[in-house]
Amino acid sequence: MPDYRIYEHPILDFRRGRRVKFYYRDKVIEAYEGESILAALYAVGYRVFNRSPKLGLPRGAYCMIGKCSSCLSIVDGVPNTRICIEPVREGIHVEPQEGLADIRMARKQENVETVKVETDLLVVGGGPAGLKAALVAAEHGADVVLVNDHYVLGGQLVKQTHKFFGSRDYFGGTRGFRIAEILSKKIKEYNNIHVYTNGFAYGYFKDGVVGVAVHGEHPLNLLVKAKTIIAALGAAEKGLDFEGNYLPGVMGAGGAQTLMNQYGVRPGDRAVVVGSGNVGLIIAYQLLQAGVKVEALAEILPRIGGWFVHAAKIRRLGVKILTRHSIVRAAGLERVEKAVLQAYDEHFRPIPGTEKELDVDLVLISIGLQPDTKFFAQAGAVMKWVPEAGGLVPIRTWGQETSVENLFVAGDASGIEEATTAFIEGEIAALSALLKLGLGSKEVEERRGKLIDFLWNEYRMAPVVRRAREGKLKVTVSEEEMKKIRVGEYP
Ligand SMILES: Cc1cc2nc3c(=O)[nH]c(=O)nc-3n(C[C@H](O)[C@H](O)[C@H](O)COP(=O)(O)OP(=O)(O)OC[C@H]3O[C@@H](n4cnc5c(N)ncnc54)[C@H](O)[C@@H]3O)c2cc1C
Ligand code: FES
Repeated sequence: MPDYRIYEHPILDFRRGRRVKFYYRDKVIEAYEGESILAALYAVGYRVFNRSPKLGLPRGAYCMIGKCSSCLSIVDGVPNTRICIEPVREGIHVEPQEGLADIRMARKQENVETVKVETDLLVVGGGPAGLKAALVAAEHGADVVLVNDHYVLGGQLVKQTHKFFGSRDYFGGTRGFRIAEILSKKIKEYNNIHVYTNGFAYGYFKDGVVGVAVHGEHPLNLLVKAKTIIAALGAAEKGLDFEGNYLPGVMGAGGAQTLMNQYGVRPGDRAVVVGSGNVGLIIAYQLLQAGVKVEALAEILPRIGGWFVHAAKIRRLGVKILTRHSIVRAAGLERVEKAVLQAYDEHFRPIPGTEKELDVDLVLISIGLQPDTKFFAQAGAVMKWVPEAGGLVPIRTWGQETSVENLFVAGDASGIEEATTAFIEGEIAALSALLKLGLGSKEVEERRGKLIDFLWNEYRMAPVVRRAREGKLKVTVSEEEMKKIRVGEYP
């Protein structure tokens, strides 16, 4: 069997867990505790995990964070399981899913126990925004339930190997994955934070009840009645329309980052990256660190989108950055075997005769993120399309409360920014929730005021985050304006 595990890395030391064995079809797969099922299968060469319902086309890893449906598989008889966020367990049986699952297969789920819990604050999402919110609320004595779809807390931090900028208050100088470890450890110190990992918040019901499907070894239907809710669901990577974009090997850049940096699995041998924002440039560098050859980085605009320092670093290592270029085709039978790039003119029309065929097995799409806001839309929150924020986002007050009373938003779900603003928004939302719960004193109110002032009048004034500031300004209103919005008077 091939071995795609990374054993040497300039920054990361992959201390793998205990060995476990599970079954994939009729094969025995050796994996390590802590890996997701998909990562373990990818490490030994599997690339196709699902087939599309109509045409039976192969589907592979795409987002690696449970945001798409590319990896739906059958685990111990349970269909529609996202194996990118399902941990390996000794002896489980996994099968690829061919198209739509038969509802009779879901029978196992019929006897799942329903458990009702009441709490002061429900935090949905265990990324930087959710973790910070849970900690701040718990420090002030609130009873907190924290649910996170992934079995590991930390959100996107777990795959970030770079050191954070800025002040020590927000982990300046510490690498992303270390921050995730620090916060997760801190969460465990509070016996008033009740954590449900593998817990997917599937719906918002009357009286503020949230349904949470806890999946995996001990499935549960958790019904949480919370006085306040902070939803910090993060974001998903945007896809790109081109021929062959469904092929395994076409992946979100963040998906490849998860494989490499979280699980220590090399996502391929030869890659092309599409998009030259900071994520695209950083990914290209991290691919090189993981031993992947980067054939080219294509950018449709006439200039590089990310920082010069990142671009210079990969150029020095021999990566060609082709501006005014994009991908037009990925080709291969069951996985990517080739990619075709083409030059574009100033009107974004492909220039005939400029096609370049690259011998690659990996096409990484890095063209931006979109906030995950389905939960807010389903809850009935008033939403607005804001391109600078990445798409559809809920309108909120300066204190992060949406038009659904006692439902707060924080982090990327409130509009795409980065982890530091996610921490700050998480804290503001928690302080607002504390005030609503009557657990806030003058000190809480003052702290909230100071943070809002710092965020808007200092932090977001930096040129690199100005666009995000402008986007968020379009959806942030006063308490008075929100009262009008709640009764249907839109500004
Ligand atoms: C793919 C990707 C790559 C990134 N790479 C970088 C980078 O290299 N450098 C950088 O500075 N920034 C990067 N960012 C941005 C930065 O990481 C984010 O701004 C930050 O993590 C946002 O924090 P968050 O808490 O809002 O969301 P996240 O960190 O995304 O956390 C959200 C959490 O919510 C959980 N969740 C989602 N839906 C549900 C649900 N329905 N029920 C329960 N739980 C749920 C998820 O499992 C996840 O753990 C990246 C973002 C993404 C999406
Ligand atoms: S949901 Fe698993 S790859 Fe997207």
